[in-house]
Amino acid sequence: MNYLDLDYKHTWHPYNALPSKSKILPVKKTFEQTIVLEDGRKLTDAMSSWWSAIHGYNHPVLLKALKNQANIMPHMMFGGLTNKPAAKLCKKIADLTKLPSVFLCDSGSVSVEVALKTAILYQKAKEKKYKNKSVSKFISLNNAYHGDTLGCMGVCDPKNSMHSLYGDYLPKNIFTSIWNLEDTINKYHKEVAGVIIEPIVQGAGGMKIHSPKYLKIARKLCTKYDLILIVDEIATGFGHTGKMWGCNWANITPDIMTIGKSLTGGMMSLAAMATTKNISDTISKSKIGVLMHGPTFMGNALACAVANANIALLLGSSWKKKVKNIESIFKKELYPLINLNIVKDVRCIGAIGVVELKSDKYAQILQDYCVEQGVWIRPFGKLLYSIVAYTISNKELKKITSAIKISINKISSESINAKTK
Ligand SMILES: Cc1ncc(COP(=O)(O)O)c(C=O)c1O
Repeated sequence: MNYLDLDYKHTWHPYNALPSKSKILPVKKTFEQTIVLEDGRKLTDAMSSWWSAIHGYNHPVLLKALKNQANIMPHMMFGGLTNKPAAKLCKKIADLTKLPSVFLCDSGSVSVEVALKTAILYQKAKEKKYKNKSVSKFISLNNAYHGDTLGCMGVCDPKNSMHSLYGDYLPKNIFTSIWNLEDTINKYHKEVAGVIIEPIVQGAGGMKIHSPKYLKIARKLCTKYDLILIVDEIATGFGHTGKMWGCNWANITPDIMTIGKSLTGGMMSLAAMATTKNISDTISKSKIGVLMHGPTFMGNALACAVANANIALLLGSSWKKKVKNIESIFKKELYPLINLNIVKDVRCIGAIGVVELKSDKYAQILQDYCVEQGVWIRPFGKLLYSIVAYTISNKELKKITSAIKISINKISSESINAKTK
């Protein structure tokens, strides 16, 4: 039996039904910016595997780190034991984020769960002055996306996070627009443990790009009211917006940062929550005493070794120059699409290019057209977006932008023809 048949019968794909309602392409192998399908077709990758493969695929430095560590020790439980790659990684994360207390975990969603738990624990450990009120709520933003687990879904925009399906099970949080953030914090600060935001770019909740002002407001008011500012850098982190962290655009340091995705250069599942010494001390020295969380694969030595190699590779490269170059090509090639009848908006920053369409009915056909032109892209809803590896060549990037342009132009003229018939 062909493995695609097995997949069709048994494998539940993300955001999908079983069997899958959309086409699933079987991948044989990858290299650099290329995905090779089982039938031999080669696709240039416009997705960097959901913001993770920042150095492209099969990077020899990452493979070497993985193989070396596999020979020494792939994994050992982290409760009561530690390992060198994990300890070194926590130090690296502490230096990079300026947040010295680091909790390692296995996925971005889990790091957000841990961040929410840490913020609540901090407020409880501090025996907040508003003792009679529950502070186990958060202020979050419209269009926010922070992951798919239940706690994370509770801080995702209610409109696009299946809130209605899970009804009363989800925690009740407070949502606001970026423009009303200041008023909302002023109004609700006694009822919440903190504020959670994606910096500069809101990802899966709408691919929106913002000016840094809201980050400064959030920082100022969280400090004023002693609320925990959680900045979710899972998507934006490691240079995607042109700066190492999205919050660097506002020159702020959050109380908690979550990171993941490109932490291992897209090779292994690993994420982290980093926080201040004040927060870890407040919890650790209080009656509460401990942070009750401990994933089985926490501190996985293989993933940590790859993450260490990934960070060294990034810091040793001219990534800022490369991301700037990507941004200028995205802008030059994609901005003119704004003139087409089916396009609502075009937005670009760093290694991210977004075309927002007026309708969500073109997602699958756009994907098919791009694949026909040898480009892997996965639109969702009205959004056709590309996030590329920093190692991409100009030629490969232009292949991607050209496939996007040709596909959208084709659909645009088809829609005009359909109207004039
Ligand atoms: C901003 C943000 N937070 C959290 C997550 C969840 O990360 P993961 O998919 O690794 O659980 C994502 C994933 O897309 C994300 O973009």
